[in-house]
Amino acid sequence: MALRYQVIFGDAQHMPELSDESVHLVITSPPYFNAPFDYPDLFPSYKAYLQMMEKVAQELFRVLAPGRVACIVCDDVLVDGKRYPIVADLTRLFLDVGFRYRDRLVWLKPEGYIRISRRSGVVLQQPYPLYFYPDNVQESVLIFQKGRFDYRSVPKEVKEASRLDLREFQEKKWYLNVWSITNVLPLPQRLEEGVAAFPEELVRRLLLLFSHVEEVVLDPFLGSGTTMKVARQWRRSCIGYEIDLELMPIIRAKTGMETASLLDDAQWEILVRDDARHLRTWLSDRIKQRRSAARNAERKTGKS
Ligand SMILES: C[S@@+](CC[C@H](N)C(=O)[O-])C[C@H]1O[C@@H](n2cnc3c(N)ncnc32)[C@H](O)[C@@H]1O
Repeated sequence: MALRYQVIFGDAQHMPELSDESVHLVITSPPYFNAPFDYPDLFPSYKAYLQMMEKVAQELFRVLAPGRVACIVCDDVLVDGKRYPIVADLTRLFLDVGFRYRDRLVWLKPEGYIRISRRSGVVLQQPYPLYFYPDNVQESVLIFQKGRFDYRSVPKEVKEASRLDLREFQEKKWYLNVWSITNVLPLPQRLEEGVAAFPEELVRRLLLLFSHVEEVVLDPFLGSGTTMKVARQWRRSCIGYEIDLELMPIIRAKTGMETASLLDDAQWEILVRDDARHLRTWLSDRIKQRRSAARNAERKTGKS
């Protein structure tokens, strides 16, 4: 069977290209509300963000085959000192749409990677009670399931072709609900610059644990195309939605679409819908403004 890779530039709140129950696994990481250094002012309000996520969740429930799983990588977000309970709110929202709450994994990042600022530094200035704000080194992987899976529905040869490597499972401690995985380092000039990409290793584990070979994986927030790249490596088909047309060259390069040859057994397709937008240039201008405001504020505090 030929594997298919389809990128649809458009809003994931509507997935008319996908028929009911046609997808076997969802792996995604939604935009982090209005995170100051990723998506400043992208949504007019938190309510608007949750309404968008509710529509996406409804579409995911519709297109997922019975018993299949949606993995949502997310974290609470701090915007201007206010904490938004995204993990709790998305859990409630997916339950209300009809999913079962199957599990929550913690993705633990190395301690050296602490984005934006060391909040715990406040205690070093003020070593007294109530000044404590921890540094964040984790994200949640919420795992939702559409009903229960019929294990007898999978042909024996497909099961065997999808067999897990138990040595790796034991040695790398996949069996725990805390996974230590290095994040994509925010190096300048890297392909995923400004995309908040998740690591391939996180996707690889979820993909191998929750899908069989030649099944269809969907990422409704494709970003740089990590899910599609890993799906290709592990013989799964993949469909990705991405609203930002400016990511097209990055997705083409990262997924291997650019270099795919005619002899390749895979089918590649890009569809551009009318609701696709141009976001990156607009976002990166706003991020630069935020960074320079933060630097100025730090300088002023340093002088006082
Ligand atoms: C956190 S990033 C995903 C990064 C991705 N996991 C990767 O590894 O590169 C979220 C992506 O969702 C896209 N996005 C935001 N709103 C969207 C929408 N309504 N429909 C489709 N994509 C959207 C953003 O442009 C962004 O690229």
